[in-house]
Amino acid sequence: MTTRVPTTRRYLMCPPRYFAVDYAINPWMDPAQPVSAERAMAQWCELRDTYRRLGHTVEEIEPQRGLPDMVFAANSGTVVDGRVLGARFRAPQRAAEAEHFRRWFVEHGYRDVVMPEFVNEAEGDFAWTGRMLLAGTGFRTDPAAHAEAQEVLGVPVLSLRLTDPRYYHLDTALFVLSEATDTTPAQVAYYPEAFSAGSRRVLARLFPDAVLATGADAACFGLNGVSDGRNVVLPVEATALAERLVVRGYEPVLVDISELRKAGGGPKCCTLEIRK
Ligand code: ARG
Repeated sequence: MTTRVPTTRRYLMCPPRYFAVDYAINPWMDPAQPVSAERAMAQWCELRDTYRRLGHTVEEIEPQRGLPDMVFAANSGTVVDGRVLGARFRAPQRAAEAEHFRRWFVEHGYRDVVMPEFVNEAEGDFAWTGRMLLAGTGFRTDPAAHAEAQEVLGVPVLSLRLTDPRYYHLDTALFVLSEATDTTPAQVAYYPEAFSAGSRRVLARLFPDAVLATGADAACFGLNGVSDGRNVVLPVEATALAERLVVRGYEPVLVDISELRKAGGGPKCCTLEIRK
């Protein structure tokens, strides 16, 4: 079996101090259902501490009152090689988050920070394979933002179309298990049914060795995983996916994100990766 080698990562996360489900902008959100900001915070701390235990660096951005979805930091920036492409949210309720993250990057010494012209929900819809950026569209990120990302970041961008409203961001349907190196191709896990027929064929061509997830894995946000190349942080319910990953030489690390899922998010949504 392949020995998977982890690489150390740097993440930016936002504590869910003001977490709530006050509005519904995806099918998971139900403002009538009770949510506990305390429980969300406990789960979030566990996630952050899990990354630290795995040897990764976690930076924290200050949460803002009135921005309950700010915990989903992955939606607020795409960083490749130290270049930062900010976000532009589709929902007016989240619009103000983008500026807080822009400021964080500027204050932390990033000089190449570009704010997009088109709707762009960052790593919600962008996944870096080590060679290119896989880019989702269909519900949130404007397809014009794909070309914009290619131009700003200077990396090849490949568009994929999402068709199931439950999987409204690419990161709810696909994640990168290991990035491409000079000698090995990237490996991904995904839920084929979340994609258009054409995009499914593209994925099958690009990633013949992908780990395919079941409907049950997708429905618990199992595809919202975070991998360091070896350790794969997953929602505890994603049992079938976890078993498939073990067979491929990965080490599943299970976390409870049940409270965050009420807003339509999982481990990856909470985790913006800073690539230098
Ligand atoms: N309530 C948030 C929204 O609908 C959840 C975002 C989840 N983030 C993600 N990367 N999928 O925008």
